[in-house]
Amino acid sequence: MKDSQHTPSTPSSDPGSPIHSSKKIIVAIDGYSGCGKSTTAKLVASQLGYTYIDTGAMYRAVTLYFLEHYVALDNPVEVQKALNNIHISFTFNPKTEQSETCLNGLNVEEEIRKMYISEKVSEVSAIPEVRRAMVRQQQQIGKKRGLVMDGRDIGTKVFPDAELKIFMSADIQIRAARRQLELLEKQELVNLQDIILNLETRDRIDTTRKESPLTKADDAYSIDTSFMTIDEQVDYIVYLATAKIASANTERPATGSPE
Ligand code: DC
Repeated sequence: MKDSQHTPSTPSSDPGSPIHSSKKIIVAIDGYSGCGKSTTAKLVASQLGYTYIDTGAMYRAVTLYFLEHYVALDNPVEVQKALNNIHISFTFNPKTEQSETCLNGLNVEEEIRKMYISEKVSEVSAIPEVRRAMVRQQQQIGKKRGLVMDGRDIGTKVFPDAELKIFMSADIQIRAARRQLELLEKQELVNLQDIILNLETRDRIDTTRKESPLTKADDAYSIDTSFMTIDEQVDYIVYLATAKIASANTERPATGSPE
C-alpha cells in the first residue's frame, strides 16, 4: 500500500467534520474484475454522502445494446451510429436502495450482470469509439465532484486529477469464488473454471488494450483485497477520503490579486 500506516476509522456525524465540509472531492477506484470494487465504492459513497457511478455498468449496457442490435464490432461507422442511439442513465430503486442502470429508459440492471454480457464486455470496451463516448459522459457527470467512481481507467484517464485514487487487486481464485457466489445469488450457476477463464481473459484484454488500459496510477493507493472484508476495505477508503476532504477544505486560496 502507498500508506500502510493507517488507522481505519468511522467518520464523524458531526456537521463540522471534514466529510460534511463544502469542498467535495473525487474518489477514483480502479482495479481488476471481481475485487469488490463496486460493493466497496457503493458503501464508501453512501458514508461520504457522495454519488456513486459504476462505469463498468455503462460498458455492460453498451455491450447489451450492441448484441441486441447485431452491431459489427469491427465496423467503426456502425459502432458510432449505434453509440449515437444509446442513452445510459441511473435510477434509484427504493426497494433495493441501489442505483440501477437504464439503457434508453429501460431498466437493464439484471440483464447486464449475466455471464453472456461478461463474456463480451471487455471486447466492446476496448473499442476506441466506445471508450471516447463513455469517458466523455463520465467526465460530464464528475463536473460537480462529490463522486465515487469505479472502473478501469478512472484515476488514469477519466479523472487524472482525482484527489483520492485506489487500485484494487486480489488473488484470482478468490475473485472467481466471489463472482460465483454473486451469480448463484441471481440463480445463475456457473462452473468455477469458466469464471476463472473469463476473469483471466478480461484481465488480459483490459490491461493490454491500446486505449487507456487498466494500470495503476502512480499516485494511487494499492489494496490487495484477497483477505480483507468489505467493511475493512470501506473503512480504509473512507479514512483516506476523510483526510483528503479535510486537506481540500483547508487549502489556502491563492493570495494577492492581479494589479
Ligand atoms: O466492473 P465490471 O466488471 O462491471 O466491468 C465490465 C468491463 O467493462 C470490464 O471487463 C472492463 C470494462 N471497463 C472498462 O474498460 N473501463 C471502465 N472504466 C470500466 C469497465
